Formats: sequence, C-alpha cells, structure tokens
Amino acid sequence: MVSMATRHWSSTVGKKLIMGLTGLLLIGYLIIHLTANLLVFAGDGGRLLNLYAHTLHQTGPLLVVARILLAALFLFHIVSGIRVTLQNRRGRTRGYAQYASKGGPSKMTPASRWMIVTGLILMVFVPLHVNMFSLGPHYETVIDGQPMRDLYRLVVERFKEPQVAFSYAAVMLFLCLHLSHGFWSALQSLGAMNRRWTPFAYTFGVVLSILLAGGFFILPLYTYFFIPLP
Ligand code: HEM
Repeated sequence: MVSMATRHWSSTVGKKLIMGLTGLLLIGYLIIHLTANLLVFAGDGGRLLNLYAHTLHQTGPLLVVARILLAALFLFHIVSGIRVTLQNRRGRTRGYAQYASKGGPSKMTPASRWMIVTGLILMVFVPLHVNMFSLGPHYETVIDGQPMRDLYRLVVERFKEPQVAFSYAAVMLFLCLHLSHGFWSALQSLGAMNRRWTPFAYTFGVVLSILLAGGFFILPLYTYFFIPLP
C-alpha cells in the first residue's frame, strides 16, 4: 500500500517537474521569439526582421535540431499538463467519495482549472500559428543583394486582416493568464520556492507574463492600425 502510494505520489511529482521545467524553457523561447518579433516595430520595412530570420535559416541543420527540440518541449509540456490534470481530477473524485465528511480535498483549484483551459486554447493556437507563418506563403525579397524570405510582408499582410489581428490579441490574454500562474507554479514544482522568495517570485512571474503577453498583444493590433502593407 505504502509503496503504491509512494509510486503514485512520485509519478505525479515527476509529471509536475516535467511540466514545470518544459514550461520554463518555453518561456525562455517566448522571450527570444518576442524580442525578434519586436523588430516589426523597427520602421525599416522589415529589413532587420528578415535579416534575423534569414540568419537563423542559414544555420540549416542546427535550426532543424532546434525546431525538433522546441516541438518536443511543447509535446512534453502538453502531455504532462493533461496527465496531471486528469490525475488531479481522479484524486478529487476519489477524495470526495472517501473524505466527504472532511469537506473533500479538492486539488483542482480555480487557477489550475484555468491552466488547462488556457493551455488547451494555446495548444490549438500554436499549430495554427506555425501553419500561418513558418509554413505560410514564401514571399521573396532582396536585402543587401541577398535573396531571402520576406517574412515581414507575410506578418504585416496577415495582421492587416481584422479577424487575424483581433483573434491573436484575444489569445494573448489567455497566454497572459497561463504564464502568470504557470511561472509561479513551475518554480513551486521545481522546489525553487521558499517563504522568503514566494511574494517576489509571484510578482516577477506576473510582471514577466504581462510584458511577454503584452508585447505579443500589441504586435498584431499595432500592425493592423499603423503599419502599411509593404
Ligand atoms: C504577435 C505575435 C507573434 C508573431 C508576430 C509571431 C511571428 C512568428 C513568425 C514570423 C514565425 C515564423 C518564423 C520562421 O519561420 O522563421 C513564428 C513561428 C513560431 N511561433 Fe510565433 N509569433 C507570435 C506569437 C507566438 C506565440 C504567442 C507563440 C507561442 C505561444 C509562438 C510560437 C511560435 C512557434 C512555436 C513557431 C515555430 C518556430 C519555427 O518555425 O522555428 N508565436 N512566429
């Protein structure tokens, strides 16, 4: 009985560790991704954004490896997130049946319920997004005599469509909720929290999420309203 319980407990912790670690690495990716995307604001007709993307694509096999790793991070994060949620639910149902008189030890807090809802929204968003941009139409441009993909034109063209710009902005609100709880929760799972650091880590997570999701939120709307089609 004890060993079964221990195994059950450690596997939940294992899944939470994977979820937290992959979540933090994905936040790292988002910081890089947003920084690169902010080049849309450079006001240079896409020169820097296209040069950045071109430089990345020049790395060839390295980029392929990075993309595989990124896809693996997303997959591990999603699978562990769904499994932890299902496990919590099962625990909760059992808990209610066994401990009804103690008030029912619910492990599904409103925040964790929001995590699965916002997570599922992002799970649908990311493949659609990759399909729209990475796998989207291949416009060509020439910068400093070098032919390259005109990603800037693709981004501006898409965000000039109101349904795309506004649905992107809406999804970024969910991203903000997901990141703000996720960051704090990841640190907790990784055991990096103690009483002294809790308020600091929580505030840092919320500020980081607002900055990240805020940047991604402004991008489509600013493009829609202020950036002319190239
Ligand atoms: C306004 C917001 C965003 C813009 C303008 C944007 C732009 C882009 C562009 C242009 C690409 C293609 C890169 C290339 O093929 O070289 C791309 C790829 C990608 N984006 Fe975004 N992105 C945004 C938000 C997001 C968000 C919020 C996420 C994740 C939650 C995300 C995840 C990805 C992923 C996973 C890829 C594929 C990476 C790759 O192809 O190498 N993006 N994005």
